Amino acid sequence: MPTPEQLTAVMEPYAHHVLVCTGGYCSTDRRGRSLYSLLAQLLQREGLLFGPRRVKRSEAPCLGVCAGGPIVAVYPAGLWYAGVTPELLERIVVEHLRDGREVPEGVFHRLGG
Ligand code: FES
Repeated sequence: MPTPEQLTAVMEPYAHHVLVCTGGYCSTDRRGRSLYSLLAQLLQREGLLFGPRRVKRSEAPCLGVCAGGPIVAVYPAGLWYAGVTPELLERIVVEHLRDGREVPEGVFHRLGG
C-alpha cells in the first residue's frame, strides 16, 4: 500500500473557493458553523458541487479578521464579507457563484484594494 507521500496530488477543476470562518472571535456565538453547513446545502441546490462550475468550500478556525463576523471570503474574486447572515450567504451563492454578479452588500475588503 502506498504511503501518502507516494500518492500523486490531484485537483478537479473548480470555479470558486469559499472560505468560512467558524471561529469564536469574529462571531462569539460561532454562527460561521451553521453558515458552513448552509453553504453545502445551497451549493447542492444550485448544482455547484460538481463539474467545471464547482465551488470548493473550506472552513477555517480563524481568517485573521476576528471582528464583525461571521467572515466569509470568496476567491478568485478576493471579496471578503463581514456579518454574513443566511440571507446574504444565499445571495452570494445565487447571484455571484451561480450567476456571476458580485454582491456588494457586506463586502469590507477586496483583494488588491
Ligand atoms: S475568529 Fe473569525 S476571523 Fe478570527
